[in-house]
Amino acid sequence: MRPLAGKQIVLGVTGSIAAYKSADLVRRLGDAGAEVRVVMTKSACEFITPLTLQTLSGHPVALDLLDADQESAMGHITLARWADWILVAPASADVIARLAQGRADDLLSALSLASESPLAIAPAMNNKMWSNQATIANLELLRSRGVQVLGPASGDQACGEQGEGRLLEPVDIVAELNQLLVPKKLQGRRVLITAGPTFEPIDPVRFIGNRSSGKMGFAVAQAAVEAGAEVTLIAGPVHLATPTSVNRIDVETAQVMYESVMMEIGGSDIFISCAAVADYRPIELMENKIKKIDHDSLSIELEPTRDIVADVAQQEDKPFVVGFAAETQDVSLYAQEKLQRKGLDMIAANQVGNGLGFSVDQNALEVFWENGSRALALTSKGQLARDLMTLIIEQYNAKNTTKTA
Ligand code: C5P
Repeated sequence: MRPLAGKQIVLGVTGSIAAYKSADLVRRLGDAGAEVRVVMTKSACEFITPLTLQTLSGHPVALDLLDADQESAMGHITLARWADWILVAPASADVIARLAQGRADDLLSALSLASESPLAIAPAMNNKMWSNQATIANLELLRSRGVQVLGPASGDQACGEQGEGRLLEPVDIVAELNQLLVPKKLQGRRVLITAGPTFEPIDPVRFIGNRSSGKMGFAVAQAAVEAGAEVTLIAGPVHLATPTSVNRIDVETAQVMYESVMMEIGGSDIFISCAAVADYRPIELMENKIKKIDHDSLSIELEPTRDIVADVAQQEDKPFVVGFAAETQDVSLYAQEKLQRKGLDMIAANQVGNGLGFSVDQNALEVFWENGSRALALTSKGQLARDLMTLIIEQYNAKNTTKTA
């Protein structure tokens, strides 16, 4: 499937060092079958020449709002109507502020204001600018108006700092845009997801936790939204931004996660249990901090927690239930055993430990269901979540067809 084939994209390039990546982006959009017209802001031209983007896109680059020649060829209103999508990449902090304000004093902002087409932006800026309250508020406003925000990535920055604010790689921008154009196969469906670790308190300052970052569960929530679902995400203690349009409930312990799932499960069509829920918790919660001098050795007695996913799978009117299995050895064997024992419809298994699985940005999965399996190759957790969602939709539809047949 090539969702971008034949799509008319206005690519807005703004003043950021990442503007050099626009050349690659134009080429990749073309390879994906899109027709691209480039609009550059004045400061973008300080970083990359219009001639480069003109050559790659095969069309003159539009630069000025008040250029009579350009306006007579393809002016801002014509461009606004021509676009199936407007993509601003890189989107500087300044252009984000201008789009949020609805300014119209340069070509890119004027045509964005004049267009009824969907708008996607791929931010690129210094990490302090990215985390500034002004930028956060501007993005919130844009998101609330339906603007799609692609990225940013984090890592080394041109200014020598490290952090969030890097432009997504062109290959990922094209993948995300493709995804936005994919048919909404979960429209009208409700999906409940758990993600992250749980913390089980020992005393007021200590807890038993695990290394789950929640990244996979959050990526799955994002993929479910992209597929058109109404998504509720019950998250353990993690430091992650909530994906757009996701209803998030924060919890800390396995018990509260259990109660929240049972509160929310009614009316859910699909339940995806990504959370690394503690299997045991301390029987007793100490009222005061345990002091070192009081003990030569110390043991903490634990009791099992309730198995959330297994209990959901026991329900009479149960949704389609997907579990995860993080294993350090014999991954597929353990996963298939869990699929049976917990009564799941599907299980996604992955190897953890030795730098694999938790906290990292890439992952691979082996997915099993009653009479089938598929290996999903190592890729970013975002892409992996989309691949997994495609499988879930296939099997969910197959099961529902048999139910109603
Ligand atoms: O048994 P194990 O913890 O390996 O099973 C993993 C699967 O079970 C995951 O889907 C996890 O979210 C779920 N689980 C749960 N409640 C627990 C323990 C695990 O829902 N108490």
